[in-house]
Amino acid sequence: MKKKASSKQRLAIFASGNGSNAENIIRYFQQHPVIEVACVLSNKADAYVLKRTKNYQIPSYTFGKADFYENGKVLQILQNEKIDWIILAGFLWLVPESILKAFPNKIINIHPALLPKYGGKGMYGNRVHQAVWENKETETGITIHFANAHYDEGQVIFQAKTPIFPEDTPESIAQKVHSLEYEHFPKMIEQTILASQSV
Ligand code: GAR
Repeated sequence: MKKKASSKQRLAIFASGNGSNAENIIRYFQQHPVIEVACVLSNKADAYVLKRTKNYQIPSYTFGKADFYENGKVLQILQNEKIDWIILAGFLWLVPESILKAFPNKIINIHPALLPKYGGKGMYGNRVHQAVWENKETETGITIHFANAHYDEGQVIFQAKTPIFPEDTPESIAQKVHSLEYEHFPKMIEQTILASQSV
């Protein structure tokens, strides 16, 4: 077991793909007095998030389905890294019961729509923006919520909206939503952690 290097709250970020949110969170907490990103985990060995992480002094891990759902390897990594909070930043697998139990109300997910709309299995990333555009929605946004055993169903922490205009495209909608994510996700992680410490 690693010895805890500091008394900071330690985050593990899970990401499956590009990792722009992961990097934004890493940067936000770089000089933070209370919170630090301890490691990044990905279920894809070639995910771009791992290239991004290399630019920072932060360890990264990749894992397969069995490590997550069967043999306890991911939970072991989280315990070795003395993780306090798990951040799902573009992570596409459902979190298993063993990890939910080990981190009650300590797993925060972001979804690129106004849940409960446009959530559930298969609704992720650009698929969400495409569906929002096809349905001619007049607004979309982000939902930051605690993860539970179902896709996109845990308790909502925060939502932010952005309007959609007739000239918008799935790509421009994605850009608007990403801007909201970059603006709010790190701050809401910070607020949630600080609030949980002050009770
Ligand atoms: C983000 O928009 C995030 O909200 C979404 O994936 C994108 C990842 O982008 N997550 C989901 O759809 C989860 N259901 P990024 O890899 O550049 O941060």
